[in-house]
Amino acid sequence: MKQEQIRNFSIIAHIDHGKSTLADRIMELTGTTNDREAKNQLLDDLAVEQSHGITVKSKTVQNLYKADNGNTYQYNLIDTPGHVDFSYEVSKSLAASEGALLLVDATQGIQAQTVANYRLAKQNHLTIIPVINKIDSTIADVPKVEQQIRNLDKEFTDMTILKISAKNGLGIHDVLEAIYQRIPAPCGEKQQPLKALIFDSLFDPFKGIIAYVRIYDGIITKHTTLMLMANEQHFSANELGVFTPSMVPVNELYPGEVGFIMTGLKEPHLVRIGDTLTNYSVPTNQPIQGYEPVQSMVFAGFYPKNNDYNKLKLAIEKLALNDSSFQFNLETSTALGPGFRCGFLGILHLQIIRERLEKEYGLEVLTTSPNVTYQVHVKGQQQQDVLVVNNPVNFPYFSLIEDVEEPYVQAEITTPNDSLGAIMKLAEKHKGIFQTMKNEADLVTLIYNMPLSEIAYDFFSHLKSASHGYATMNTVFIGYQLADVVKVEIHINYAKVDALSFVLHREDAQIMTQALVHKLKVTVPKKLYPMPVQAIIEGKVIARIDIPPLRKNAAVNGEQRSISKKQALLRRQSANKRLEAHSDVTLTQEVFNSILELD
Ligand code: GTP
Repeated sequence: MKQEQIRNFSIIAHIDHGKSTLADRIMELTGTTNDREAKNQLLDDLAVEQSHGITVKSKTVQNLYKADNGNTYQYNLIDTPGHVDFSYEVSKSLAASEGALLLVDATQGIQAQTVANYRLAKQNHLTIIPVINKIDSTIADVPKVEQQIRNLDKEFTDMTILKISAKNGLGIHDVLEAIYQRIPAPCGEKQQPLKALIFDSLFDPFKGIIAYVRIYDGIITKHTTLMLMANEQHFSANELGVFTPSMVPVNELYPGEVGFIMTGLKEPHLVRIGDTLTNYSVPTNQPIQGYEPVQSMVFAGFYPKNNDYNKLKLAIEKLALNDSSFQFNLETSTALGPGFRCGFLGILHLQIIRERLEKEYGLEVLTTSPNVTYQVHVKGQQQQDVLVVNNPVNFPYFSLIEDVEEPYVQAEITTPNDSLGAIMKLAEKHKGIFQTMKNEADLVTLIYNMPLSEIAYDFFSHLKSASHGYATMNTVFIGYQLADVVKVEIHINYAKVDALSFVLHREDAQIMTQALVHKLKVTVPKKLYPMPVQAIIEGKVIARIDIPPLRKNAAVNGEQRSISKKQALLRRQSANKRLEAHSDVTLTQEVFNSILELD
């Protein structure tokens, strides 16, 4: 295919505005899929994606479109994930495109994620084609939505805004025509040294890592030796091809094309999304801009229920192979035995991995309360010797700590005007430091700098409820800043339960630990004897409560008994207590949720 007949584009939209339905229609009309396949919404194939209704891994499909002008075009539709936890993948998918269809639901109008995605597309200098979807709906308000789009960007003032129904196929032909007419063909020189962007990857147990690439300059020919620029790893391109959407082998990939390469490499960390691929013998001297490795932001322990440790290990290893942003290390807890410390992009990512373990491998896991990474400076050590702590158990004893730094993010929150007050209150409650604010259509965008720990857990769901589901948020890591944090140890029945340790801001310690012990009182399974629960900070008990025993306490209630009988009973009970003190606390998921659900 001639380069000027290639178009690389993505569809960007707020959740449920019809992205997958439009993608299906495009594949149908270009003859890429038949009706039966189309019914299964090809782009969302993972079971978890279907249950969450969101797209996790970006995928790509090559379609051949016979245009009204007589030419045939190669339309590479690059799918983008839709959720904030995956904005890194969104960005890389967009970097592989020249254009984007900005899809807006005619019944809902511009929503927060529409604005956030539109902004990512602008940052990537894409040509944007606005499209109004669901015009068939009885509650569609097309003129209003059209006006909203025109207000979003001066560029849209005089532009023809396409109006479609992805559901019944209305207007899709116009979309297909607009793609080659408005989106530029990719540039790139085939004589230049090879420069290709890796925008996604997949692990195949037989073939190793499959890299999804977009060629900028040069040609990839079968069997040439290629090199990954980030780590100078090289390999032979034994198999390459394109997605139609199944993988079809080709002998060469040209500038502007999108396809896959079987790298044969078996270690997932070697192939990183955003890296530049070049020719080993004639490398380019300039990698593609904007490469940054993905960093795990949230950590939690995964422990097997039902002694499935080996099965869990295998499953986690497999999942990590297909998801370079999911990391894990072995760890052992005295309370829970052997398990894994896992790193995630955010809390939604954690939930998705947990569900995949359950649905795809039939494994249930206990998840400890999540935490961020702290950088701890220990007294008497050089300033540059930082202890990186991503498990509260390893947080040094308080008297040894010089200071602690925690990760900060810049949060860009887009919300409808009427929730502005509630959102600002929420951000301030979570230690957000206000930066700026601007209006876009009927929406307001607020920028805050915030500790990651404040937004890593359930901030997003609070944001949704404060805005009746309409606000969205994108975050960028901005570095580590000094933090006044303390480690909370939980002792149950006088024994420390290491898996329940967590770190929090000192100013919140009093209120949060009080709330926690009250929750633990109801979530920790009762025993035959009373068990005190203590929250200990820096060696001092700052909150305490007693979990009542399962049965009535004979020593207290036996009013008719003699004093000596009561004393004998109490002695027996306290002997029991000492026996049990170092074991036997049953930790259920509800116990861990008590920490997670603290507000
Ligand atoms: P995410 O992957 O969750 O971001 O969703 P999506 O944007 O891919 O939306 P999807 O295509 O799954 O559509 C969401 C819902 O809107 C589905 O119930 C579709 O049937 C419906 N829908 C999509 N297009 C149209 C349309 O043109 N008209 C009407 N009435 N409904 C539509």
